[in-house]
Amino acid sequence: MKKIVVTVGCRPDCIKMMPLLKELRKRPELETVLLSTGQHREMLDQVFEVFHERPDYDLAIMKTGQTLFDVTTGILNGIKAALEEIKPDVVLVHGDTSTAFVTALACYYLQIPVGHVEAGLRTNNIYSPFPEEFNRQGIGLIAAYHFAPTQLAKQNLLKEGKRPETIFVTGNTVIDAMKHTIVKDYRHPDLDWVGNDRLIFITAHRRENLGTPMHNMFRAIRRVLDEHPDCKAIYPIHMNPLVRAAADEELGGCDRIRIIEPIEVFDCHNFESRSYLILTDSGGIQEEAPAYGVPVLVMRDTTERPEGVDAGTLKLVGTSEEVIYSEFSRLLDDPAAYSAMAKAVNPYGDGGACRRIADVLEGLPVSEWLN
Ligand code: UD1
Ligand code: UDP
Repeated sequence: MKKIVVTVGCRPDCIKMMPLLKELRKRPELETVLLSTGQHREMLDQVFEVFHERPDYDLAIMKTGQTLFDVTTGILNGIKAALEEIKPDVVLVHGDTSTAFVTALACYYLQIPVGHVEAGLRTNNIYSPFPEEFNRQGIGLIAAYHFAPTQLAKQNLLKEGKRPETIFVTGNTVIDAMKHTIVKDYRHPDLDWVGNDRLIFITAHRRENLGTPMHNMFRAIRRVLDEHPDCKAIYPIHMNPLVRAAADEELGGCDRIRIIEPIEVFDCHNFESRSYLILTDSGGIQEEAPAYGVPVLVMRDTTERPEGVDAGTLKLVGTSEEVIYSEFSRLLDDPAAYSAMAKAVNPYGDGGACRRIADVLEGLPVSEWLN
């Protein structure tokens, strides 16, 4: 019997690890332990609730306004005792959060093998996104198993000299999750409020965008909304107090922008799929929206998810007020520009990522690899 620790800490890694946890639990040769760093609190509890899970271990490190030092030292100090007690054969970490990097570092110190889920995404600029690019490269140095979502991610890992036999192209586990979230006859009071107007869906939270870039983003959005009475925006806001202060200042008092509390992933996917356009700096939403064919303006200078950009559904627009204003206005006013982007593509797999990862961990032959 192999003991596998599944580590989560923030909203996105938890959303993407929950379907994997459920798959691992089905395997008789694997014993699973769910460890949460508690880097997030309310936004993480919301995901646990949706998937009917509770962590076996919760380091509960979150503090309001936490710095990267707080997060790093909080996890490092708390996780050693937990890992020594659990004695895992493999620890799985996800993506690029500090939860994932610091857990991998702790495993390295304790010489426990690490499996990296969503491995090989790269911008090759360690300041963008910050600190996520450093985190994912750092995990790549430590990991014994690299579960890459796409062939491109695999190529990134090979270029860095990772051994081919340690890389497995599985697809992204978010596609596994999406198989269960999208429903046809979905209703929600906020969508009723939008009615027949065009729904603009907004999210923003990146650490490197806090301050001037975020104010620029919000000012541009406000100007465009003021000029388009047939559009309504829904913005489920991140719990970071700095994000909330900027949004209040720039977007408050506009009756066609509804700022709401973070929504459950089930609602989020259904809101995204019914949107006319999405403006975001999120990583995960760049993977989800192309599958629905909803155009996305990515308010960042770089992306580690170029697949959707290559397919034409995502466009990187940076964080200058004027560029966001003109790109956003153009997509609302120019139907040809809009329909060129509104193409459904799904480069992230067939929803079988969790099964493949579980097969690898169990030592079983994988029946059907992704091409
Ligand atoms: C973290 C990840 C980022 C990921 C994002 C997903 C790092 C360094 N960053 O960034 O990669 O994209 O999560 O959302 O790992 N807060 C709450 N309740 C919550 C969650 C957050 O109050 O449930 C507030 C707290 O004041 C906290 C702040 O948000 O201090 C920032 O949280 P933190 O985890 O440090 O950074 P994120 O920007 O959420
Ligand atoms: N999401 C959610 N509720 C929200 C906003 C986002 O469930 O109110 C989901 C979204 O569908 C995606 C993930 O959270 O699966 C993205 O998380 P986030 O943008 O916080 O982090 P990132 O992906 O940028 O790391």
